[in-house]
Amino acid sequence: PYASFTALRTASGPVVHNEKARFWEVFEYDDVLMLASEHETFSSDGSKFADHPEEFIKAQSILTTDPPRHRQLRSLVSQAFTPRAIASMAPRIAEITHDLLDHVVGQGSMDIITDLSYPLPVIVISELLGVPAEDRAQFKRWSDDMVFSEYDELTAINVEEYNERMRQVIRRTLDELYDYFRIVLAERRLQPCQDLVSELLAARIEGQSLSEAEILAFCTLLLIAGNITTTNLIGNALLCFDEHPETMDQLAERPDLLPQAIEEVLRYRSPALLLARYTTRDVELHGQTIPCGQMILGWIASANFDPQQFPHPEAFDITRSPNRHLAFGHGIHFCLGAPLARLEAKIALSILLERFQQIRRNREQPVETIHSAFILGPKHCPVTFK
Ligand code: HEM
Repeated sequence: PYASFTALRTASGPVVHNEKARFWEVFEYDDVLMLASEHETFSSDGSKFADHPEEFIKAQSILTTDPPRHRQLRSLVSQAFTPRAIASMAPRIAEITHDLLDHVVGQGSMDIITDLSYPLPVIVISELLGVPAEDRAQFKRWSDDMVFSEYDELTAINVEEYNERMRQVIRRTLDELYDYFRIVLAERRLQPCQDLVSELLAARIEGQSLSEAEILAFCTLLLIAGNITTTNLIGNALLCFDEHPETMDQLAERPDLLPQAIEEVLRYRSPALLLARYTTRDVELHGQTIPCGQMILGWIASANFDPQQFPHPEAFDITRSPNRHLAFGHGIHFCLGAPLARLEAKIALSILLERFQQIRRNREQPVETIHSAFILGPKHCPVTFK
């Protein structure tokens, strides 16, 4: 990631107007931070500026809402994600990790993705939402489609065709996801349980319940955004440790460094590559005027390698401090699931490193990366161990 973004930053300057695709791009740390922080100038709600707002309305979740509605939705759902609520999930996360590793313990080899980092967050979020974890093969298909991971060959054709194909796939996937959650909602209306869906149905903001569309959008966001990124965090950690084998020795000696090592993985291989905003007025940036209503992509993956913010950004250093990476965004939309993602990664990796020795990537199989413009992670990560 370092080489490609340094090349881009140097070749094209800090602000790029992609006229064909009709968006702008920023690469520097301060600019991505500003995009995330100044929510009055940089809106998260694309429906306000779209040619076809109805396409956005359907997917209108907390992620794509501006204040004041954002504040109300966030205060409601954040009750399920308080540090205390998340910490109480630790024993269950450890139990699931042990169960998953029990399946491969005698084999001497495993695929980190299929055997551990995909099922773990799906089982956790399914239990939180109250949907059957057995449906996880279907959840994976939906996640893959939502991040548009299989269609990169289309970029070779042309941007318009790519965008149109992406819109179609996302629309179809959302239809299927919403149909799935509509049935869950109907069941919980008849019989509430101790789960997030039931809580969301019972929740009131100033006496008003959430709309069905808001609940559907939130469940979909958790199922997709929360899973694929956490899967990739664990997969990316293995890749980083394998590329820098001295970290494995450091961690064996000092297991207390693991949380810091996870922060460095988040910086070095950010699972979410970018964030998107829309200008609410004309904005002057590095001598260019970005007109009102334009989409700007802030490249998190580039900001996290900005030498102004991170000395020797190309060095993978698990003792790096401070490490103010933007992997979880910043400001009012700062990732709601960050404590959960950090906890899952910490528990999964610590149990893995404790139970298995000499974990090495199987070099006979090349690392295949997910082909997506939004997400960074390995499709598979086969390893051997003792
Ligand atoms: C927001 C990344 C895991 C739920 C975000 C944002 C980023 C991000 C960059 C901000 C987007 C923006 O400002 O436009 C990640 C990464 C994860 C992760 C890298 C794992 C390593 C999770 C998990 C959950 C989750 C586990 C839930 C279970 C959310 C939600 C938002 C969000 C609900 C929207 C918050 C808001 O708009 O107020 N995430 N995420 N994420 N994330 Fe995560």
